[in-house]
Order: sequence, then C-alpha cells, then structure tokens
Amino acid sequence: MTRILVTGAAGFIGYHLARRLSEQPDARLVLVDNFIRGEQDELYGQLCDKPNVEAYDIDLADPAAVAALPDDVDVIYHEAALNGTQNFYERPYEVLRCGTLPTFYLIDKYVRSGRLQRFVFAGTPESYASTVSRFDWEVPTDESVPLCVDDVFNERWSYAAAKIHGEILTVNACRQFDTAFSIVRYHNVYGPRMGDKHVVPDFLNRMKHGVAELYGHADTRAFLYVDDAVEATLRVGQSPATVGEVVNVGGQDEWTILELARRLMTLLGRDPEDIVKHPSPAGSVRRRAPSIEKLQKLTGFQARWSLDDGLMETIRFYVPELLPAAV
Ligand SMILES: NC(=O)c1ccc[n+]([C@@H]2O[C@H](COP(=O)([O-])OP(=O)(O)OC[C@H]3O[C@@H](n4cnc5c(N)ncnc54)[C@H](O)[C@@H]3O)[C@@H](O)[C@H]2O)c1
Repeated sequence: MTRILVTGAAGFIGYHLARRLSEQPDARLVLVDNFIRGEQDELYGQLCDKPNVEAYDIDLADPAAVAALPDDVDVIYHEAALNGTQNFYERPYEVLRCGTLPTFYLIDKYVRSGRLQRFVFAGTPESYASTVSRFDWEVPTDESVPLCVDDVFNERWSYAAAKIHGEILTVNACRQFDTAFSIVRYHNVYGPRMGDKHVVPDFLNRMKHGVAELYGHADTRAFLYVDDAVEATLRVGQSPATVGEVVNVGGQDEWTILELARRLMTLLGRDPEDIVKHPSPAGSVRRRAPSIEKLQKLTGFQARWSLDDGLMETIRFYVPELLPAAV
C-alpha cells in the first residue's frame, strides 16, 4: 500500500488527481483542504466517502494542524494554494500565507523525517511571467527561464512570489534532507469543477445570462484538459527520470482567447461572430505557452483530449441546458 497525501484536494486539480488516485487498488489517500477556495460539494463528499480515503478539513498554514496529520505518508502532491487574479489584488496577505507556510510545515513534518518517497510541488507560469514581459523571453517557454517578480509594490505579484519561494524551498529542503522531489508548472488547465473565475466558466456563465462577452480576446494561452493534466502529474510524480526536475505541464498549441470562445460558441450551436469583445483587464499576461518537450521526453506524455472534446465536457458540467437538443 502507498499512502498518498493530496493537499488542496477540494480544489480543481487536487480533486481530479485524488479521484484518479483513489481508483488505484494499492493507494490509501489522505486529503486536505480548508475550503478557502475549494468546495465541499457532492462530488468531493463522494470522494471522501470512499473506503481508501481519509479527509481533513484543516488550515495547512497552522503548524499544529499539519503536525497532527498521519505520520506514515509515502508521497505528497502539494496542490494547495490561494490563486485567482482577484485574490492577488484583494487578499495578497492570504495569498502569501497560503502559498508559503504550508510548504514549510509539510517539509518540517514529512521531508525532514527522511521517509517520504516523493514531494511534488505545484508551480505556475506566473513565476516567469515578468521575465517574458520585461525581458522578451522566448514563448513557448521552457523550464530554464529565470523566475522573477516585476514590482514588489504591485499586489499582482504576491502569488508569483509565493510560488517562486515554494520552488526554491522545495529544491533546497529536499536536497538538504535527501528526499526525491519534482515540480510541475501547470499552464491553463481547464475542465469540470474548476470554479467560476477562469476564462472558460466565466464565458459560459455570461452566455447563460444571454451575453457572449469576452475579455482579453487577443491574449494567447495553451490549454490542457484536466484529465491530461492529472495523467501528466502522475507521470512526473512516479517516474525516476523526473526526480529533482522542474517540468512544464500544459497544452502544445497556443490559442487566442477569441479562438477559444469561438469554439465554445460553435459547440453550443451559436454564431461565433456574436461575441462582444473587450480588452484584457489591466496587468493581464498577453502571451503564455509552455514548451512541453521536457515532459514528453522524460515521461512519454501525450495529451489524449482534443480542445473540442475537453470544452464539450466542460460545457456539460457548467451549462448543459445551453447545449443544442441533438448533442
Ligand atoms: N489550474 C491551473 O491551471 C494552474 C496553473 C498554475 C498553477 N496552478 C497551481 O496548481 C495547484 C492547483 O490548482 P487549482 O487550479 O486546483 O487551484 P484551486 O484553487 O482550485 O485549489 C487549491 C485548493 O487549495 C486549498 N487551500 C488553499 N490554501 C489552503 C490552506 N492554507 N490549507 C488547506 N487548503 C488550502 C483551497 O481551498 C483550494 O481548494 C495550485 O497550487 C495552483 O497554484 C494551477
């Protein structure tokens, strides 16, 4: 039996990852979330009810709560963080608190004991967004890009700073205490149960209210469906080739947000020309796409979901009532 701790398990990626792991007959899961963002909904309830799952509603920024978690854990997927652009601006202290302290306390409890087989940390392209915009760094961007923060006085960078800190802490603590680690830098993962703040659910929500309004139509992203992101995460977390490595996890194709919205409209049987375009919100990252060569080379990962199939699953979750009758 392998005992696996997933933090942020009531969130988007953490939930899908934990659900997939719960299907492995030799896995026992320890799930943690404090619901600062994730939801205690029916799906999470069903996951927690599985016989090989134990769930904890604790704040990972509380050292006593982390110390009281089960001792015998073999692998950690550390997905907990407070993200979302609105939070960066409105709650930068909480963003920094949730982005830094849990990593320290998890390392204190599990990495220092020397028993852990792998510590997997969830990184982000926000950590290099300033390098791309300020120094014209190459896009698609590979893992060798320097991480930086454009302006310490702009709350926007609270999340990036916490995640840069998390990467440096993971590398140094795991090396010092001789524990295998991997860092996955997720790029624009989408799918069911991703909350309502990201571009796909936000656009679908607007359509539900009768207006196909789109913000940041000229920005580009490389989207990855959540089942593929889970597959990539597990490959990184389990392969010997990814020990001690930072690995981008994301889609291979760069799309404009307008192209993405047009596909959603087409899948919903609407006229893509009806989209009402608005510019990006201030501070938005204009272009973002990862190089996923390293992921493919080290793990053999290939995405299985096309953008249309992934978007259709997402539509079915959020707005099934908008689908044409024949679908
Ligand atoms: N979704 C993406 O495309 C993407 C992109 C880049 C990085 N990431 C990173 O990947 C990880 C998972 O992302 P996600 O989209 O699933 O995020 P999410 O917000 O859906 O999930 C994170 C979960 O962590 C929980 N959490 C936060 N602080 C906590 C604390 N102190 N104690 C206990 N639980 C806490 C939240 O309640 C939430 O349920 C995050 O670390 C995120 O920063 C995600």
